[in-house]
Amino acid sequence: MEEPGVYNGKVLVAGATGRTGQWVVRRLLYYGVAVRVFSRESDKALALFGKSVEIVTGKIQSSADVARAVEGCDAVISALGSSSYSGESSPASVDRDGVMRLVDEAAKAGVKHFGLVSSLAVTKWYHPLNLFGGVLLKKWEAEEQVRKVFSQESHSYTIVRPGGLKDGEPLRHKLRVDSGDRLWSGWINRSDVAELLVLSLWVEHAKNKTFEVVNDIEQEQSTLAQYYDQIPK
Ligand SMILES: NC(=O)c1ccc[n+]([C@@H]2O[C@H](COP(=O)([O-])OP(=O)(O)OC[C@H]3O[C@@H](n4cnc5c(N)ncnc54)[C@H](OP(=O)(O)O)[C@@H]3O)[C@@H](O)[C@H]2O)c1
Repeated sequence: MEEPGVYNGKVLVAGATGRTGQWVVRRLLYYGVAVRVFSRESDKALALFGKSVEIVTGKIQSSADVARAVEGCDAVISALGSSSYSGESSPASVDRDGVMRLVDEAAKAGVKHFGLVSSLAVTKWYHPLNLFGGVLLKKWEAEEQVRKVFSQESHSYTIVRPGGLKDGEPLRHKLRVDSGDRLWSGWINRSDVAELLVLSLWVEHAKNKTFEVVNDIEQEQSTLAQYYDQIPK
């Protein structure tokens, strides 16, 4: 594991003003990484982060706004998430089309790494959560675009599929990781999801991984990097 301050690139965080996104920003700043946030509300971003980050205001539905946001960034982490059944904040508009637009514009702009907060059960079309605008199916489509575009040579991606999200400090629990969408339940702190995505910028074993993760027993952790070695093939 590399020490704080060793990732020299700039990271765009989409969904930065959300509950997981705020933790992504906090953990990036902890490691001394340069952060740009993409927000639809500059006042909200400014109130949360002050001058510690660069703020680009725009809509995830606008290719021009997204292109402006990713320009000059080396990595993107998306913690975007829909909040209504229909309209601009629906799963189709945010979880699928918004993330796909971000992926495409990021690749065009020369971004090298893409980190995504997805969800447990995204491959299960019959899951009851799909009653909410097909949210899991939309996330799955976005995941596919991330894997397709960011598995190209000299690019990488990390897709984290968390269980139910909770608030709380990072590094307070052991983690349970899996692949193949076999976990049916479990919770995880948003801060640990954020930490995993931040580590994915420089932990080599995190590259080109899609995995599920939930908290295990409460036990202080000095790093979460080792969990990237425990993901089954
Ligand atoms: N809740 C769970 O138990 C659970 C479990 C597994 C996975 N997940 C997924 O994990 C991710 C993070 O969850 P969270 O609880 O941290 O989410 P959250 O607090 O609701 O944050 C969602 C973010 O998406 C942004 N957003 C929503 N609609 C938008 C739009 N129309 N245009 C631009 N941005 C928009 C919000 O912007 P504003 O700040 O401007 O509102 C916010 O920054 C989501 O994708 C969620 O589906 C959640």
